[in-house]
Amino acid sequence: MDPRPIGMFDSGVGGLTVLHECLVTLPHEDFVYFGDSSPDRFPYGPKPAATIRRFAHEIATHLAALDTKLVVVACNAATSAALPELQREFGVPLIGVITPEARAAVQATRNRRVGVMATQATVASGRYPAAVHVLDAGIEVTQVACPDLVPLIQSGDTHGHELHEAAKTYAAPLKLAGADTVILGCTHYPLIRQMLQRIFGRDVTLITSAEEIAREVAETIARRGVGNDPAREGDYRFLCTGDPAAFRDVAGRFLQLPLTAVERVDADALRVAA
Ligand code: DGL
Repeated sequence: MDPRPIGMFDSGVGGLTVLHECLVTLPHEDFVYFGDSSPDRFPYGPKPAATIRRFAHEIATHLAALDTKLVVVACNAATSAALPELQREFGVPLIGVITPEARAAVQATRNRRVGVMATQATVASGRYPAAVHVLDAGIEVTQVACPDLVPLIQSGDTHGHELHEAAKTYAAPLKLAGADTVILGCTHYPLIRQMLQRIFGRDVTLITSAEEIAREVAETIARRGVGNDPAREGDYRFLCTGDPAAFRDVAGRFLQLPLTAVERVDADALRVAA
């Protein structure tokens, strides 16, 4: 039995889509979720890769100090900017996004045209086309950076006119390219999955990673023999660098989970400790 918690982080509430699947798959494990929601730091998408890498390094240091047995990088921007460096640096196993969605998209596409909706940082990294082409070099990948989506979703308003218009605008080039499969390359986007499915229509397969990540986490824990007692009920803890009340409100709504306390972590202290 290994009682240590599993760590997970994102720039905000997007990673909760991954946490949700992990809670379903591993209800007996404890989780520490870190949302880097301070206005000085969120969103990651428009920031240079080096800045995102620094933030990811600071958070991974914090989560490692909390004696986590595994850390999930539940953020595509942080995965694309920092995952290999984090894996080289930290002893704790780190699992990221991107590869699972690329694999699922390659399996799902019938016309070999895959679309990617993601933040600017993830699009600029080129990680999705690279991951798809490792598996099938003949697939045409069209990427669209969607800078307006994350701040609107993070604000908790998932049904506003502005968000709907922005989503339609970003979807247009992918429809034009004839993509039959679209990767939602940002963990915030599954929170508006219904809206996006309506915009693309029934014939387009939307790919998200949360279920695959949860499976990977479960397998890693089982193979390493670091699972907790399967008979117990797991606990969860939420940390954020921004306003804890705002985080609790939006996160509780998205997760449909009563969040008691959200602890604030001082971003300056994070920087000093890393
Ligand atoms: N959920 C993050 C991702 O998956 C959002 C990045 C951002 O803060 O812009 O990329």
